[in-house]
Amino acid sequence: MKNTRREWLIAAGLIVLALIPSLAGAVRVGEIATDAPVTPENARFIEMPLPVILHIVGALVYSLVGAFQFLPGLRRRHIGWHRFAGRYLLVPAGLIVALSGLWMTAFYDVPPVDGLALQISRYLVGVLMAASIVLALVAVARRDIPHHAAWMIRAYALAMGAGTQVLTSAPFAILFGTPSEFWRVVQMDAGWLINIVVAEIIIRRTILRKSPVVVAVAA
Ligand code: HEM
Repeated sequence: MKNTRREWLIAAGLIVLALIPSLAGAVRVGEIATDAPVTPENARFIEMPLPVILHIVGALVYSLVGAFQFLPGLRRRHIGWHRFAGRYLLVPAGLIVALSGLWMTAFYDVPPVDGLALQISRYLVGVLMAASIVLALVAVARRDIPHHAAWMIRAYALAMGAGTQVLTSAPFAILFGTPSEFWRVVQMDAGWLINIVVAEIIIRRTILRKSPVVVAVAA
């Protein structure tokens, strides 16, 4: 009972983290759908809407459905759902988020404050997220469940950087307004770094601890 409550709290926490960027995404999709007036802030999304729409819909599915894949109790009781959701919803949605993110990084005319350093970070995160999903699939095909879980946690953590970035940037935006190019990349990278560190701690404390063979391979 205590474990079940803890698990649902974890899912709720992940959903709350995904909520703000998801709401921002819903507003952006609404703006595109209702032919809102073009401004310097939204021109790139209105002129080239497909990548951002795919990105936002993919991110909604990935972050909300994905939150429930990490609950051990739910997974044990509904392994059929875990496999179905993973195969037909989360892998496609995760790859769409990463690939559309990479596409926008390459082709959107972003504001000057999103400089070269942030562009490089976005390329890195997009490639690492897509690669983590592919490595998780390779692991599960070999029935290597600990590595499958570890790579899926890494992919999810990188995606959820969008949520952590709200926490690493919003307080400063409220206090000091628009950041400089330097502080912008620091705030964005901090979101991804925090998530990567938390993911590695979780992987080491839970998955690798249970599997000495995996620890030996990972060492
Ligand atoms: C679940 C995870 C994610 C969510 C919820 C999310 C959410 C969003 C939203 C709502 C936008 C539109 C921003 C706006 O309207 O101003 C956006 C844009 C963007 N996202 Fe994501 N995102 C996620 C993951 C990623 C990842 C992993 C990358 C890595 C490449 C990425 C790269 C981008 C880029 C480059 C843009 C365009 C930025 C711009 O032109 O200003 N996103 N994302």
